[in-house]
Amino acid sequence: MHSFSISYIFYVFLVSLVITMSKVAIEEPYELVNKVCKKQGNQKFCVEVLKSDTRSEFAKDIRTLTAIAVDVATKNTTATRNYFQRVKTGPPGVLKSLKSCIDLYNNVIMNLKICLHEEDCSLIGYDIHVARDEVMFCQEIADSNRAHDSFITTSNDVTLEFCGLGESLANLMCYETRA
Ligand SMILES: *[C@@H]1O[C@H](CO)[C@@H](O)[C@H](O)[C@H]1NC(C)=O
Repeated sequence: MHSFSISYIFYVFLVSLVITMSKVAIEEPYELVNKVCKKQGNQKFCVEVLKSDTRSEFAKDIRTLTAIAVDVATKNTTATRNYFQRVKTGPPGVLKSLKSCIDLYNNVIMNLKICLHEEDCSLIGYDIHVARDEVMFCQEIADSNRAHDSFITTSNDVTLEFCGLGESLANLMCYETRA
């Protein structure tokens, strides 16, 4: 009787140990980040952006990752717009392009800010897509003003990466919700 209860206690101990270990295995840090970013065109960028926010470490749903991507994109785009506003000297084509691009970036920022508040999931990706179009329009303006080889293009490329990631995550998230 005595030896039975000891082996029973040991058995319970073993079972709970196995359960604890399997839980640890399931909750690997950045598991969802790595899984989701594998499907992205720019995997390195995706991982960098999402890991910059600690909420991603044990994120359980794509909604959290989308929110992070949009937040980081909003901050980056706002910093870019502020930089555009500070530039006062340079080639005329650059200065002329900046006038339009600042307005377009204001729209980009606004779209990124409203998108997460959409009731309809599919509108999140749509808002980000519209933001992307605004960046592309800024690029067209820069190209037509012979400012293609300027910081405007470099900035737009980064903003387009952010929009692409945000839109892709938003669509993944909405698809997952419906499925
Ligand atoms: C925006 O993000 C890119 C990529 O992470 C970074 O290289 C760049 O410095 C950021 N721009 C601003 C203005 O913060």
